[in-house]
Amino acid sequence: MVNLTLSLSACICVVAAAEPSPPIWPETFHALAVQNRNGSLALVDLYYEWKNGRNANLIHKQLGTTLYDIEYNNKTSYYFDRELGTCKQIDFPVGILTPDWLANATYLGTDSVDTYDTHVWTKSEGFIKYWADVKTGLPVRWRFFDGAQFEIMTFKEGETLPDEEWQAPEYCFTKDLGARADVPMQPLAAA
Ligand SMILES: *[C@@H]1O[C@H](CO)[C@@H](O)[C@H](O)[C@H]1NC(C)=O
Ligand SMILES: *[C@@H]1O[C@H](CO)[C@@H](O)[C@H](O)[C@H]1NC(C)=O
Ligand SMILES: *[C@@H]1O[C@H](CO)[C@@H](O)[C@H](O)[C@H]1NC(C)=O
Repeated sequence: MVNLTLSLSACICVVAAAEPSPPIWPETFHALAVQNRNGSLALVDLYYEWKNGRNANLIHKQLGTTLYDIEYNNKTSYYFDRELGTCKQIDFPVGILTPDWLANATYLGTDSVDTYDTHVWTKSEGFIKYWADVKTGLPVRWRFFDGAQFEIMTFKEGETLPDEEWQAPEYCFTKDLGARADVPMQPLAAA
């Protein structure tokens, strides 16, 4: 009886110790990712600035133009393509991710992806799955519920994007966008 109790608690200790805590994002970083949405590929520069309350995705589409997705913590986002002259303002119900957004994620164990040994977490009933390098804690891959997958190629803490790159172009404001959500803007005429 004593032996059984001892071995049971030893077993619980081992299981508890084996579960790593989820990574916490640095307050500022630049990551370069390969995005695959059902075979539609893009290189994405992700800039995260928690202190400034903003987040940028520069989506360089394969053999295509660059779509800017600039998100602010005040729940406003701008999608624009300087080359195509398009702009769209979107109101999101949530702001940008907190550095500890992975807290409370469900640990799924280890996995070998992209030649890295990783810890895997999932959050919000499978909304996102997140693979982090066992050795460094850096993200290797994340995947959304709809299959959109991102392989993280570089991750540089402290690196940022110049202010002028965050600024949505003037035509986002001079055209009649109003405050309405999800109003697609017409491409500007060449003039
Ligand atoms: C949110 O912040 C951005 C950048 O400062 C600004 O352009 C936008 O108008 C703000 N939106 C709201 C709803 O305050
Ligand atoms: C994690 O759970 C705790 C307790 O329910 C909660 O206070 C906290 O806000 C959660 N954090 C995140 C990032 O979800
Ligand atoms: C991929 O295609 C499936 C099936 O058409 C669709 O349900 C899913 O939303 C698509 N995912 C992305 C990221 O476009």
